[in-house]
Amino acid sequence: MKIVVTGGLGFIGSHTVVELQNNGHEVVIIDNCSNSSKEVLQGITNITGVTPIFEEFDLREKSSVQDFFIRHHDVAGVIHFAASKAVGESVKEPLLYYENNIATLIYILQELQKKSEASFIFSSSCTVYGQADELPITENAPVKPAESPYGNTKQIGEEIIRDTCKIASHLKAISLRYFNPIGAHPSAEIGELPIGVPQNLVPFITQTAIGLREQLSVFGDTYPTPDGTAIRDYIHVVDLAKAHVVALERLLTDNNKGNYEVFNVGTGVGSSVLEVITSFEKASNKSLNYKIVDKREGDVIAAYADTSKANDDLGWKASSSLDDAIASAWTWEQKVRS
Ligand SMILES: NC(=O)c1ccc[n+]([C@@H]2O[C@H](COP(=O)([O-])OP(=O)(O)OC[C@H]3O[C@@H](n4cnc5c(N)ncnc54)[C@H](O)[C@@H]3O)[C@@H](O)[C@H]2O)c1
Repeated sequence: MKIVVTGGLGFIGSHTVVELQNNGHEVVIIDNCSNSSKEVLQGITNITGVTPIFEEFDLREKSSVQDFFIRHHDVAGVIHFAASKAVGESVKEPLLYYENNIATLIYILQELQKKSEASFIFSSSCTVYGQADELPITENAPVKPAESPYGNTKQIGEEIIRDTCKIASHLKAISLRYFNPIGAHPSAEIGELPIGVPQNLVPFITQTAIGLREQLSVFGDTYPTPDGTAIRDYIHVVDLAKAHVVALERLLTDNNKGNYEVFNVGTGVGSSVLEVITSFEKASNKSLNYKIVDKREGDVIAAYADTSKANDDLGWKASSSLDDAIASAWTWEQKVRS
């Protein structure tokens, strides 16, 4: 039985394909290469020795999605990564985000609903919590009004899946709420390759250090945190990828509690922006050019996960440290630019 990975050439998707193949799953990737490149397939093959099946099309084309599931009738599960993810762009082009992140989800669920049994994993985000009232954040923390159309697509996406699972008992689904994925595969065959200016801290750091960006802006140093900079839960992308395999296998083996579940996927450790910079300087032996600027609207002060549900129910725990993840991101950046 096949596992479909939408967005499987992207950052988190490609690492998950590797872990799926390492665990013996047959993978079919769907990607339109809007934010990735076909070269990623070679990286996956170099690591695992197996080239996944690849179908290049846009999931916004409903007829292509329908046609895909007719041709691949032996699909046991779907891990749905494909989405647009730039928060700022989503504010400027909300309809693009609602179409790409919501319509594609609906088309896939419509096809899965037709099957006698199917497992579905959704890429959600800790942005659904906004600034949580209590730290660390448990899955029971209230979902706060979204700060952007992108964030809203994750909240709406979760609601669509929950409502669909209520009426389709043969459909089993898990939403994984990612904290902050960083790093690259230790082989440096695959990693994060942002198109244009990176939206996230770690690729911005590595691109600054390699000379692609002049300076890193640190948004605010007067937050009520020990060093005044914002705190996030940075998780190594390989740990995150492994969480998908564990979640999928939970569904495939009917070990789920109810047909819709939600899990936080983080390390449980909060790190400040300055701690991330220090970790990078240690890993690279370089001094980073950065400056403190004003806070950014919409940024939360601190967010880190309570991981006990994922640890206890999924049997999954992050194993890499911040230093490991940062070092792998730096190795990858140097390889890409060499
Ligand atoms: N990276 C993060 O910090 C983060 C955090 C929380 C949640 N997420 C979510 O995780 C998922 C994966 O994120 P990522 O960082 O790997 O992003 P990414 O952009 O690297 O990967 C997404 C992939 O989906 C493909 N894609 C997009 N729209 C498509 C469409 N209509 N049809 C076919 N393919 C399409 C892109 O080409 C890309 O390869 C996304 O849903 C994202 O919102 C990411």
